[in-house]
Amino acid sequence: MDYRERHVRLLTETIEAVNSSLDLEEVLELVATKVANALEADACFVYLYDARVGELVLRATFGTKVEEMTHRPRMRPGEGITGTAAELRAPVALPKQAHLDPRFKNFPNLPEDEYESILAVPILARGERLEGALNVRTREPREFTADEIDLLLAIAAQVAQSIEHAKLYAEAQRRVHELEALARISEAVSESLYLEESLEAIVKTTMDALHATGAALVLEDGKIAWPEGRADAHAIRQPLRWRGRQIGELVADRATPFTQDDRELLASIAQHAAVALEHGRAVLRGVLAQEIHHRVKNNLQTVASLLRLQARAEDDIDPRKALEDSVNRILAIAAVHEVLTERRDEDVDLAELVERLRAMLVQGLGAAREVDAALEPVSLGGNRATALALVFSELLQNALEHGGPHVHVELQRQNGEGILAIADDGRGIGEPKNGTGLSIVRALVRDELRGSFDLRSDGGTRAEVRFPV
Ligand SMILES: Nc1ncnc2c1ncn2[C@@H]1O[C@H](COP(=O)(O)OP(=O)(O)OP(=O)(O)O)[C@@H](O)[C@H]1O
Ligand SMILES: [Mg+2]
Repeated sequence: MDYRERHVRLLTETIEAVNSSLDLEEVLELVATKVANALEADACFVYLYDARVGELVLRATFGTKVEEMTHRPRMRPGEGITGTAAELRAPVALPKQAHLDPRFKNFPNLPEDEYESILAVPILARGERLEGALNVRTREPREFTADEIDLLLAIAAQVAQSIEHAKLYAEAQRRVHELEALARISEAVSESLYLEESLEAIVKTTMDALHATGAALVLEDGKIAWPEGRADAHAIRQPLRWRGRQIGELVADRATPFTQDDRELLASIAQHAAVALEHGRAVLRGVLAQEIHHRVKNNLQTVASLLRLQARAEDDIDPRKALEDSVNRILAIAAVHEVLTERRDEDVDLAELVERLRAMLVQGLGAAREVDAALEPVSLGGNRATALALVFSELLQNALEHGGPHVHVELQRQNGEGILAIADDGRGIGEPKNGTGLSIVRALVRDELRGSFDLRSDGGTRAEVRFPV
């Protein structure tokens, strides 16, 4: 066969094979294999030029495995024999003992000294822009002919186009990937009513999009909102901004370094995450407002049933006293609301609540009594706090109305139990009889606080409520 014919056939076959894929990795692997076959060489190494760092990076091999691709051999144009071909934009051929050439560059994870000859050529797109370089090696000494050098140059020129196409395709894929990731976040954010779900979607999408081993959202206060996976050798952090203010940070971890593309993708995700976070918080504020409305409604119902209870009392009722009592009961509920809304917490600090009620009742009754208090911090959920406020208000009123000149209030926490005691130094209760006040106390302690109530008289009166916290 005429060498020209053979040359054209090898070129066509190689390029057909290489063009069978658009995936860059696959294209480069095909190049390595097909080029080695076409030139009947023992090995082929394909380097891509990374213009951003100005380095040739080994991307595919045939014949020799690179021991650890995480430390891919890389060199600047001009470095090593293949780097020299890239810099000169011309082939470099050595028939034997290539590794003894002063230009040779040794890589610890690339066993190259088993090869005698080398033929290296640049990969130039449109004959000018450096896309990479490739070389073929043989174990036996070999003088490459001018035809073989031409063949490799011709293949390299075609390969440059395949690489360009694969890169464009990869870029398009990356865009699609990015848009998909952002669409997933938008969807999760607009669909979910709850902040938690949005945060989860953001963190999971970040992990997916960046192939991260771990990711998390860090909020303004340094609280980590949604950690997933695990930390790794490389970390990347992106601030979340909302109206010029930093409201958090998106963090991702990975074993391999993050690229500029990754950074840009993370920045887009962070933009969406900031919107999601603010959106979620606004929803949360709405939910909180609803919760407060709900409690107001519940408590108004409590007020109504207290009034009904009082209306049904058998004794003759002094209308003025009945009204005053009702006012105090409503004020007790109002005090709980005040504490609840000021704090925005789920739980109410009972010490604070008891202190407010004490001040309010002593002043309201204009009682010339000495009321001292020893209050330890104890907290309770909103509903039960309301019950406790009513109980305390009844018991303190009794002490002020029926008890002695000194009243002592105690709030303690003991073995998972809260203890509220109101003691006075009056004449004691004597014959225990239940008015509306004590009925309310007993009902609330039993049904709402799920605790126990004890009323003791020796000298004065001591009322004690125990409830699980
Ligand atoms: N600390 C106390 N010292 C002495 N007597 C008390 C004390 N607490 C309650 N009592 C007695 O127990 C009774 C029942 O109390 P209860 O709170 O149920 O009704 P009330 O105080 O009379 O009316 P109200 O329904 O307005 O509270 C009181 O009338 C009072 O005689
Ligand atoms: Mg009473």
